[in-house]
Amino acid sequence: LRGKKVVVSAGATQESMDPVRYLTNHSTGKMGYAVARACMLRGAEVTLLASTGCTLPPVPFVKTVPFTTAADLFEAVKTHAMDADALVMAAAVADYRPATVAADKVKKHDGEMSIALTRTQDILKYLGENRTAKTFLCGFSMETEHVVKNSRKKLEKKNLDMVAANNVKVEGAGFQGDTNVLTLITQDEEVSLPLMSKEDAALKILDKILTLTSF
Ligand code: CTP
Repeated sequence: LRGKKVVVSAGATQESMDPVRYLTNHSTGKMGYAVARACMLRGAEVTLLASTGCTLPPVPFVKTVPFTTAADLFEAVKTHAMDADALVMAAAVADYRPATVAADKVKKHDGEMSIALTRTQDILKYLGENRTAKTFLCGFSMETEHVVKNSRKKLEKKNLDMVAANNVKVEGAGFQGDTNVLTLITQDEEVSLPLMSKEDAALKILDKILTLTSF
């Protein structure tokens, strides 16, 4: 990957509702960090868009750009990824954020409460619609059922080259742990990988990208 520019996103977005609380998810960033490290070890110029919620040590020889919200990540992607040779979007991005952010702490009252939510930008969809042929777009897909069917829909709807899909309910897959069980979905095939470390899964993703591009 020497001479190639790769952008990787990792970790969970955080969407504030007041100065005390935010909406987020269980992503640790481990999968994205593993992809960034693998790209660096293979010689790429790597930019890692990393959630400020990630507590992982920085990846050496990789430029790290922090983000907090989906809107921040959208800006970072537009700044860093439009001319990339490949983008691997491992970040777990909120689909909704609180419609308003209270300036002061929201106090409790008797009875129920609800939070009005508004849609965030689908960053990968935007990229798929505004891509240059040059940039290989790899998304991730987190599902709990109909993994391949739902993930293939994302490949098509977002105009991607590959989706690395995983089922959060499968032992050893998904958030938190050091392993994953991925299915790599492309236009022509579905490759189911066995349980392996996130480092090895990252290498498999790169191997697949190399077979599908003229890198
Ligand atoms: N993604 C994105 N922008 C969003 C939401 C998701 O770019 N607002 C990206 C993720 O980084 C991931 C891919 O889209 O690479 C799929 O994310 P996922 O959460 O699995 O699916 P969604 O498209 O959000 O669909 P749903 O939540 O309905 O499953």
